[in-house]
Amino acid sequence: MRNQFKGKDFLAFKDLNREEIEFLTDLSLDFKKKFIAREPHDYFKGQVWAALFEKNSTRTRNAFQRAAADLGITVTYLRPDELQMSRGEPLKDTCRVLDRMYDGLFIRTFGHEIVEECSKWMKAPVINGLTDIAHPTQGIADMMTIKEKFGKYEGLKLTYMGNLYNVCYTTMIFAATLGMDMSIVCPAGIEPNQMLVDEAQKRAKVTGAHIEITQDFEQAMKDADIVYGNAEYSMGQTDEEITKLKKAFEPYQVTADAMKMAKSTAIYMHCLPAHRGEEVTDEVLESPQSVIFDEAENRMHSIKGIIAAYAN
Ligand code: CP
Repeated sequence: MRNQFKGKDFLAFKDLNREEIEFLTDLSLDFKKKFIAREPHDYFKGQVWAALFEKNSTRTRNAFQRAAADLGITVTYLRPDELQMSRGEPLKDTCRVLDRMYDGLFIRTFGHEIVEECSKWMKAPVINGLTDIAHPTQGIADMMTIKEKFGKYEGLKLTYMGNLYNVCYTTMIFAATLGMDMSIVCPAGIEPNQMLVDEAQKRAKVTGAHIEITQDFEQAMKDADIVYGNAEYSMGQTDEEITKLKKAFEPYQVTADAMKMAKSTAIYMHCLPAHRGEEVTDEVLESPQSVIFDEAENRMHSIKGIIAAYAN
């Protein structure tokens, strides 16, 4: 199947069907085995990729750099403030210049239309390292983590608490596509993107997954196999927005007592960075149920799998 991705762009979860999500997840798990066995896998020796990060990053940036190094790829890290883009050079010109010099672009940016614009102007593969609505490299890492812990997706219930942006939408579409139930706990007045909810419901109809948006924390936590936390707000929001969101999400903090409402075998996931004392307590993050650092490590293996599938 790898050839069907080759040279294409990895932009959004919506472009991926069940077989493709499972293929990328399993390929990433294979790369993890190679990494653990210290088996060389520098299959892309000689390639040079650009990494453009318009937002801060710990996991994604380091995961990409290490993944590229192990695959034999040299990386040029680009800061937007050092490029002529910061003085108004159009993205379409920047993309066509980069396309003449690099074998691929890894980009973390703001609006999803920006990665679509890069895709339009570049022949080399473009990999989305986060936009406002999609965080697909995180999504593949999360599916890896779930497969490692449970060996399956179907029949599991994932309960999500946190901001309704990229990670939420990616998880929702992947869960629906893979047949995993998902409860998204969402305060009154904070509405998810209806177009993406409709897309998830369409996929859920095919797989039998149950996707719900609810304000009922207890009901959502009941029988959960996976409790997934995320920050209540996102990078770049104003102080006023953050204060409003923190207040709205207050009743939904995941504490050790709240974890008792889930199955006794439940795991706690978080894309990180976590805000201790806000969406989750330190006790939960440090508990044996927490798999947050397995999940973070899997970012590196998933990015390897994705590069290996999409690179020319
Ligand atoms: N989860 C995630 O994308 O982390 P970073 O923002 O540190 O890359």
